[in-house]
Amino acid sequence: MVKIAPSILSADFGRLAEEIKGISNEADMVHIDVMDGSFVPNITLGQPVTRCIRQATDLPFDVHLMIFNPEKHIDSFADAGADIITVHAEASIHLHRTLQQIRQRGIKAGVAINPATPVCAVENVLHMVDMVLVMTVNPGFGGQSMIVEALSKVEAITRLVRKKGLDLDIEVDGGITDETIGAAVRAGANVFVAGSYVFGADCPGAAVRTLRTTALAAAKSMSSTQRTI
Ligand code: DX5
Ligand code: ZN
Repeated sequence: MVKIAPSILSADFGRLAEEIKGISNEADMVHIDVMDGSFVPNITLGQPVTRCIRQATDLPFDVHLMIFNPEKHIDSFADAGADIITVHAEASIHLHRTLQQIRQRGIKAGVAINPATPVCAVENVLHMVDMVLVMTVNPGFGGQSMIVEALSKVEAITRLVRKKGLDLDIEVDGGITDETIGAAVRAGANVFVAGSYVFGADCPGAAVRTLRTTALAAAKSMSSTQRTI
């Protein structure tokens, strides 16, 4: 299933609730980028803002933690309304325990890898996650161009997931536009984060529709054995 997850990183933070309402009828999730100024260069938002915008929509909150020691903040983000929490393999020493901790809260768990991190970093935890996030830019900023080579890792994860008989989402994040989403679909992704493409558009809702239509068209052009969505 194609899921479009607009990243509010590119939304107008002064009118966050309004911006979220603007995509609520079109999107599948709201992607919330949490940055600590240490794991990544930027600092964004945390639990209080997440709690506040929870009232703006019924869409699931896809919380992407770009922070070191994410295990310290799982409970508070779950309390703030996260439906899925994704942690970076590079940022949590005891990744297995951190993922257990997320699931113990009764919410979905995701694991992310940066462009330079190999797939083997997540291979041994695939059975305990609901989603793998492959970064297609170096995390920290919106509006960057996609690092196309990262899509080969999406292909590798797609193969691994099939081989292991698992059922999980494969999310791509960074540089997703109507021009790049097709390649991500062909690599095997089914969840697409888009920040600047959506919130930089005159009509963010229409931009979400375009991404969905383009992704579905790309999937249709694949053979049924290749298709993941
Ligand atoms: C980058 C964030 C992304 C970002 C994507 O570190 O994880 O979610 O918002 O922005 P675009 O879609 O503009 O590349
Ligand atoms: Zn993100």
